[in-house]
Order: sequence, then structure tokens, then C-alpha cells
Amino acid sequence: MNPFVTIKDIDQAAQAITQKIKISPQVALVLGSGLGGLADEVIDPVIISYADIPNWPVSTIHGHAGRLVIGSLAGVPVMVMQGRAHYYEGYNMDHVTLPIRVMQHMKIGTIILTNAAGAINPDYEPGDVMVLNDHIGLIGMAGLNPLRGPNLDEFGERFPDMSQVYDRELIKQSHEIATKSNINLHQGVYVCLSGPSFESPADLRFLRGIGADAVGMSTVPEAIVARHGRTRVLAYSGISNKANLDGNTETTHEEVLAAGSLIVPKLTTLIMGVLKSLSA
Ligand code: HPA
Repeated sequence: MNPFVTIKDIDQAAQAITQKIKISPQVALVLGSGLGGLADEVIDPVIISYADIPNWPVSTIHGHAGRLVIGSLAGVPVMVMQGRAHYYEGYNMDHVTLPIRVMQHMKIGTIILTNAAGAINPDYEPGDVMVLNDHIGLIGMAGLNPLRGPNLDEFGERFPDMSQVYDRELIKQSHEIATKSNINLHQGVYVCLSGPSFESPADLRFLRGIGADAVGMSTVPEAIVARHGRTRVLAYSGISNKANLDGNTETTHEEVLAAGSLIVPKLTTLIMGVLKSLSA
């Protein structure tokens, strides 16, 4: 058995989806922990459970509904992933990122990634939103790059550039929408760790030292695969908790989910605004 995802695996999954829908999604959204509520805004939704898509990684985590919602948002045909799979659930990196390959195979040109993250930057508060202007691919540097294995030449080259992963124009638009809507939007660097344990105080001091503003367990592998295939990427972190650099407070999955109710309305405004500008 091939241990790596192949074009056949990708094609099978894409076909299972396209057989059930009449539209061609142009933008894909990946909704992270506690952030699935935005999928409720989709008009004329076709809902497909991840379990019904061959080869699709199924999320086992509370707060991840595990379904695709395909329809229209702000006039744009979209495919929304309500929940995602993570490396810590036991999937390989190329399985974690198979949905991104399927989106590329379906000719989706823009992917908007969202995640719940802990704040390393002391100016960030739970409920805030950060737009990513760069990332630190710490787990990739340690060997868990999602592009490891045979290069899928039909998507991109062996050694893809990562000098500007997050689309400058979409970042600029995000700031304009935030200003108009009175949203305090931070811009910063996200670092992805494998999880599932949260960080120790010494981990967090290290991460602050290397320039991270927010920490989480997703998004970077997806962004790397997206850019390998030259897909436009925009990503937001919903700040769910302050990182405990002093070791005096605990971090829980419950607080991560609870912050979602503050974050979802802001993300909805930002994403709807970006989609409107894409449809114009
Ligand atoms: N650390 C890592 N991942 C997270 C956190 C955190 O503090 N909060 C939400 N996801």
C-alpha cells in the first residue's frame, strides 16, 4: 500500500463531492475549533458528512462537526469545512491536508483557513482575532512537512517558494473591513505545534523568543499544501486563551470552545466582507 496520498485518492474524494452538488465552489473555508457556526450562514446548503467521502480524514474532536457545507455565502459559491483533522489524532500530514488537495483538484482558487489559538503576544486577549501575515512551521522544520513523499507534480514543484504564504491583498482587505466594522484586528505570526498537549511555560517562553504571536495545532500544513498548488491563502486565528508563560493558570479545551462565541461574529463579518470583494 502506498503510504502517501496519491492523485487517485484525491480524485475519488473529489468525485464523491462533485456528484452531490450542482455548483462549482470558488472559495473554500476551513472552520476551526468552536468556529463552525459560520457554516449556518450558507444559503441553499448541500451537506456531506466527512464519513461519506472516500479517503477524507474524519475529525474525532469535540467542537468539529465533521461535515462539508456547500452553497452560497455573500453571493460566492463556497465549500465550507465544518471541522478539520489534526496530526495529533493520528493522521499523517498528507492525510491531514488531503482536503486541500481535493479543493485544488476541484479548481477552488482561494482558501480561507481559521483556527483557535493561544495568545503568546501579551497584547492579545481571548475573543480577539489575528490575521496571519506569516507562520513558523516548527513541526515542518522538525521533519513533519506535509509535502514529504513523492512530489505531486500535477499540483506544484518539488521545492515550492514560501516567501509570501498569506495573500497580501486579502490581508489588506481584512484590515479595511475590520476598521469599517470596529473590529480590533491583530496581524501576526502563528506557530503550529503537533499537540495534543498544551505548551509548558518554558515552551511558551521559547515560542515568544522565536517571534510567534499565537500558537495552535493546525493551519500551517494546510497553508503549505495550498501554496504548493499556488492557491491563494488567507488565515485567521481566533484567540481563545492567553498562553500561560508564568505557569500560574491552566489551559482547557472548554475555554477554547467558549471563546468561539465571541470570535464567530467577528470572523463572520471579516469573511463575508472578503467574499463580497471577491465576488465584485
Ligand atoms: N495552545 C495550542 N493550541 C491552542 C491553544 C493553545 O494555547 N489554544 C487553542 N489552540
